[in-house]
Amino acid sequence: MIEINKNYNESNLVTLNKTPDNTIDLTITSPPYDDLRAYNGFELDWQNLIRELYRTTKQGGVVVWVVGDATIKGNETGTSFKQALFAKECGFNLHDTMIYQKSTPPLTHNRYEQNFEYMFVFSKGKPNTFNGLREPRKYTDNRTKKAFGRNKDNSVDLGYSSKDETRLRRNVWKYFAGGGANDKIASQHPAIFPEQLANDHILTWSKDGDLVYDPFMGSGTVAKMSILNNRNWIGSEISSEYCNIIEERIKKAWEEKRKEKDLQTGTLFENEM
Ligand SMILES: C[S@@+](CC[C@H](N)C(=O)[O-])C[C@H]1O[C@@H](n2cnc3c(N)ncnc32)[C@H](O)[C@@H]1O
Repeated sequence: MIEINKNYNESNLVTLNKTPDNTIDLTITSPPYDDLRAYNGFELDWQNLIRELYRTTKQGGVVVWVVGDATIKGNETGTSFKQALFAKECGFNLHDTMIYQKSTPPLTHNRYEQNFEYMFVFSKGKPNTFNGLREPRKYTDNRTKKAFGRNKDNSVDLGYSSKDETRLRRNVWKYFAGGGANDKIASQHPAIFPEQLANDHILTWSKDGDLVYDPFMGSGTVAKMSILNNRNWIGSEISSEYCNIIEERIKKAWEEKRKEKDLQTGTLFENEM
């Protein structure tokens, strides 16, 4: 049996090997793509990883796979698509192909600047949890019926109750990619995803007490946001150097959580008197 609320300094396949079938509620991860970064030479066996994720994910559990493609000699690899189709072959449902739109500094080459990654949402059967996040609606009026509409910018607004001041978010999510972490120490890792991205998927696809996994824990973003949202978590990170960053961030997250609890119970106030 695996110990939870723990980061394992080992390959994800080793961690998963000791994980029983149907254990994990939600995985959120960004695999190193196309050897773009060597990560001390560790090789990525994504086929076995996806197979193992399918085995260890609970029925109704979800895997969010955040990935892009390298361009090699002017040719995009398409590995992300291969991975998505392979996940389907393993039994996952491709529940949604979402986009992580990132604001990145401009580079110069003979194509439009790449400013997104895929967020494939794989589910093992129908997702157990969907807490759809909402966003402010631009336009409201007095119609009460569900309707198809057209926004003033000519985009189609699909099916809404127009008295609502909010609507269900669409599946393109925009985040600032320049770190997006509130802990300075996280910037010692070269490829973190934004805290808010992890946060939003945790809220959408899991509930309090669920088990969240990141097989490529990196700087510990998923662990941190799981702690702050009252979820259990596990992680695998092969580099011991990055594990130190993870430990620091976890420690800070638990402190933040403890302070929040003390504030609620009034203990912090008493301690400070
Ligand atoms: C793209 S980063 C993940 C960053 C993470 N999402 C964050 O926000 O910090 C990928 C990480 O996977 C780690 N890694 C590479 N191969 C691995 C393996 N087989 N098992 C576990 N970790 C691995 C790398 O060392 C690297 O830190």
